[in-house]
Amino acid sequence: MRAVDVIIKKRDKGNLTNEEIRFFIAGITEGTIPDYQVSAWAMAVLLNGMTDQETTDLTLAMADSGETLDLSSIAPVVVDKHSTGGVGDKTTLVVGPIVAACGLPVGKMSGRGLDFSGGTLDKMEAIPGYRVNLSQAEFLSQLKSLGFVLTGQSADLAPADGKLYALRDVTGTVPSLPLIASSVMSKKIAAGAHAIVLDVKVGNGAFMKNLDDARRLAELMVAIGKLSGREVIAVLSDMNQPLGQAVGNALELKEAIETLNGEGPADFLEHCLSIASYMLLLGKKANSLESARKLAEDALNSKSALEKFRQLVIAQGGDVSFVDNPEKLPAAENQLVVNAEQSGYLTQVHAQTIGETAVDLGAGRAKKGDTIDQGVGILVHANVGDYLAKGDPLFTIFSKSSNDSEKAKARLLDTLKWSETKVDPLPLFYEVIGKV
Ligand code: URA
Repeated sequence: MRAVDVIIKKRDKGNLTNEEIRFFIAGITEGTIPDYQVSAWAMAVLLNGMTDQETTDLTLAMADSGETLDLSSIAPVVVDKHSTGGVGDKTTLVVGPIVAACGLPVGKMSGRGLDFSGGTLDKMEAIPGYRVNLSQAEFLSQLKSLGFVLTGQSADLAPADGKLYALRDVTGTVPSLPLIASSVMSKKIAAGAHAIVLDVKVGNGAFMKNLDDARRLAELMVAIGKLSGREVIAVLSDMNQPLGQAVGNALELKEAIETLNGEGPADFLEHCLSIASYMLLLGKKANSLESARKLAEDALNSKSALEKFRQLVIAQGGDVSFVDNPEKLPAAENQLVVNAEQSGYLTQVHAQTIGETAVDLGAGRAKKGDTIDQGVGILVHANVGDYLAKGDPLFTIFSKSSNDSEKAKARLLDTLKWSETKVDPLPLFYEVIGKV
């Protein structure tokens, strides 16, 4: 079989067989298919789609590209969560510690920034020394001893996704339902969690722009999870405006630490408590959503979640003084506050444009292997539905130069839409797919 023939078949809208998919994924994993062919294939998949059967075959092939962990010796239930990617989405950094602090082990394999969406690993690397490349043995031993792991794909676990993910980020091939479903679920299956909560983002700052597409993605991922014997639910959540205030790696990490300290933005806190509650319920730590919520709130208020996060950072080699004193985290010196140039109600705070502006400031990658700047980003001070008087702060831009700040300012002001009459705030959640 030749890689080029598989690319041509997908280019010509053919359905790939399991054998062809397995051949291609093996070639990605072993490095025998070069990046340019992988990129061409990913573009063909993005343009022509896949059947549910192809997506399932692709997911299982990617999960099988490395080891698949068996966590049954660690605990009866290990839980995991995954977001399909958004702007300002630092949920894992708060939800992981909350759930682990409630005594439910969390084994999480995260990704890097993807297109305009941020990545948990990039955020965690703002802490000097924090290791995101744990081996399989380290993953298992830390999950057993601490009940919490937050790492990336090692060479052992779903390596095909690791390679494909990095290429998709810089080849315009991210917003593809089969590529997202297989990327997310291959990692989840390989990492072995028994119960998985998927946070499927929908809106302009998500890869699924409308509810129908998000629902389809969610249903497919839930079905693939079930096929692999996992308990999976998907929560459809809004991503038309950034979640919380901070967009950019160290800024987001700082906001997550503030939230663990009880000082985070209300929308972000509410989002985290809801996701944590679903994880606790699915992981059978509680028998109703209300009691799960109470557990999550207690873990936050007692600071046991914060303590769990500290222990995670120490276990993975990070300098915990950056958690204890988040002002030590990198912050670009150029800081420009952008104020409202008019009064009124905000009707649009466009998440995708804000995410793209942050990437252009240096928070994401333009090509594979680019280094990112941890200290740049944007604080968004207002949400849809807020009333602002002229002169009220809208954004703070953290950049490498005043020229960058000015460019970002023009773009950010342009993303806003205003109304003279009252508008409703955006909902946090739309619906839940799958049974708890
Ligand atoms: N998260 C992933 O892990 N993969 C995607 O493709 C999108 C979000």
